[in-house]
Amino acid sequence: MAFNKIAKVAVLGASGGIGQPLSLLLKQSPLISHLSLYDLAHTPGVAADLSHINSRSKVTGHMGPEELGEALKGSDVVLIPAGVPRKPGMTRDDLFNINASVVRDLVKACAHNCPQASIAIISNPVNSTVPIAAEVLKKAGTYDPARLFGVTTLDVVRANTFVAEVKGLDPATTNVPVIGGHAGITIIPLLSRVTPSVNIEADKLDALTKRIQDAGTEVVKAKAGSGSATLSMAFAAARFAFSLLEAQAGRKDVIECAYVQSNVTDAAFFATPIHLGKNGLEANLGIGKLSAYEEDLVKAAIPELKASIKKGEEFANQ
Ligand code: 2OP
Repeated sequence: MAFNKIAKVAVLGASGGIGQPLSLLLKQSPLISHLSLYDLAHTPGVAADLSHINSRSKVTGHMGPEELGEALKGSDVVLIPAGVPRKPGMTRDDLFNINASVVRDLVKACAHNCPQASIAIISNPVNSTVPIAAEVLKKAGTYDPARLFGVTTLDVVRANTFVAEVKGLDPATTNVPVIGGHAGITIIPLLSRVTPSVNIEADKLDALTKRIQDAGTEVVKAKAGSGSATLSMAFAAARFAFSLLEAQAGRKDVIECAYVQSNVTDAAFFATPIHLGKNGLEANLGIGKLSAYEEDLVKAAIPELKASIKKGEEFANQ
């Protein structure tokens, strides 16, 4: 099936560690007519470089706050990887003080310049930056919960890889739903619901779950001070962007896990599998049937999630 709708996609933070490989992956998509790259520095160079690739999209570079409006105008999808990454010993929440205001200001500009766009947030701590974005959009009168997403696709990608490794499956066709949030114990892989169906022995379940929960930290440690996951994060964010675009273009069977406004638990934002459609989130598919082990993981995650959401909301409303 061909999906012919063409879209403008903006990347905010396009010169960064995630932004550059993400923009490269997006440049390959026939679903994008205009790839708009925004950052505080280096976007003319990144845009010139990518613009020589012979794929469909036009590439424009926009540098500094005075060019942000132009970068966003007419965008259908905005991807936000802007901000600073973790260093060894840091949690995602340690980034709050810097990234909270980065996300607030960028989302304010989205409300102004592309109020209809779907916004996908990558900047950490995602558990708080998405609620910040929601509050900013509410204040601007443009909030549509169906169009605001925290990108948790990397948790799914990692879970697929690690489960396939342990079970001798093809990672590309293994699918593990991951629910909850995007930090430590709030990352809840549903290892009872893997496709193809697998049996994970009780003695391996805990180690595998923890590896998925701590996978971001595994990369932070391996990078030894130079940052966190950028390449796999770019891959995951591109996958999510393509899903959004394919659904917007009319594909009917697009399902991704994402961190969205939610009433499936006590937490006001929660990642679950969602059905994407022309206007963003079409249906929240909910938590579904959990094992006893997974139910305990959800219970353990809710207080931390609620605290991260509250912190984000308070920041946006202060
Ligand atoms: C990660 O999970 C960067 O939060 C991202 O590695």
